[in-house]
Amino acid sequence: MPLPIRPRRNRVSAAVRALIRETALAPADFIWPLFVVEGEGVRDPVASMPGVDRLSRDLLVREAKEAQAAGIPAVALFPALDGSLKDPLAKESVNPDGLLQRTVRDLKDAAPELAVVTDVAMDPYSSDGHDGIVRNGEIVNDETLEILAAMAVSQAEAGADIVAPSDMMDGRVGAIRDALDDAGFENVGILAYSAKYASAFYGPFRDALDSAPRGGDKKTYQMDPANAREALREVELDVEEGADMVMVKPALAYLDVIADLRSTVDVPIAAYQVSGEYAMVHAAGERGWLDATATLTEMLIAIKRAGADMILSYAAKTVAQAS
Ligand code: PBG
Repeated sequence: MPLPIRPRRNRVSAAVRALIRETALAPADFIWPLFVVEGEGVRDPVASMPGVDRLSRDLLVREAKEAQAAGIPAVALFPALDGSLKDPLAKESVNPDGLLQRTVRDLKDAAPELAVVTDVAMDPYSSDGHDGIVRNGEIVNDETLEILAAMAVSQAEAGADIVAPSDMMDGRVGAIRDALDDAGFENVGILAYSAKYASAFYGPFRDALDSAPRGGDKKTYQMDPANAREALREVELDVEEGADMVMVKPALAYLDVIADLRSTVDVPIAAYQVSGEYAMVHAAGERGWLDATATLTEMLIAIKRAGADMILSYAAKTVAQAS
C-alpha cells in the first residue's frame, strides 16, 4: 500500500530506536536519598519501601561509595532520630556531634568527591513533626527562619556541599544564604524545595523517620496540589533570594509543573520521586502486578522528559547499576 509516511520505520530495530531516542537517563542525573540511624552494622528495613533501609553510618558510607562507583554524583541525607532527641525547637539539628553531622563528616572523609546534600527542615528533629515552630496550633514563619539558618550553617560546618531547605517557610532561602555567607560558606549551594506540595505521597517517608505531624497537617506551608501558577511564583522568589537550583516535589503527579518551570526559568530543576511513588510501584510489583524496576524507570524517563535536570529517587542506585 502506498503510504509515504510510516512512523513505524523509526521503530524498526533497537539500533534505529537508539538513534532517534530523545531522552536518556544517566547515573549522573541522580541524587540518592538515604536514611541514617545510630549504631553499627544496622540495616533496618523501611516496611513500606521495599529495598530501602535505615542504615548506620558505616553501612551508609559503604552504600554511598557503591553508588558513586555506579556514577551517581550525590546523596541526600535524612536522619532517623530517637524520639528522646526531639523537641519543639529542633535543638538537636544544630548539635555539631549530631547523627547527621557525623554522617556528613564520615562521607566526606570516605568519599570526598561525592556531593552531600542535607535537608533543612525541622520535622525529623521536632517533637511536633512539623517543619516549623508550632505555637497555638500555628506554624510560626519568621522565628523558624533563625532555626533553619543555624541548621544550614551546622550542616555546612560538617561538610555538606549543598543544603536543601524542604520546609516551605517564606524567606528561608534568603535567610539561609545570608547565614551561610556570614559564616564563610559562600561555596555551599542551595537546592530549594521551591514547589513542594502538601502531598499524600510522603506517607512512607514519614514512617521511615517517624516524622508525621503530631497534630494538624502541612497545608499552611506546603502547596495546594491544585495549583501550578503558584509554583512559578515560589520558584521566582527562591531564585531572587539566592537558590542555585530549585525542586518540584513530588514528581510524577506534577510533570506539568516541571515542564512549565523548564520553559520559564533558567536555573537547574530537580524533581523528587518521593517515597509514595516508590512504595506504590513496589507494592504492585510484590503482587506480580507490575515489573517494579521497569515501571520506576519509565516514571524516571517521564520526569526527565518533562524537563528535570536531576532526580532524587530511592531507585537511583538500582537504576544506575542496571544502566
Ligand atoms: C521534610 C521532608 C519530607 C520529605 C522530604 N523532606 C516530608 C514532609 O514534608 O512531610 C518527603 C520525601 C519523600 O516522601 O520521599 N521536610
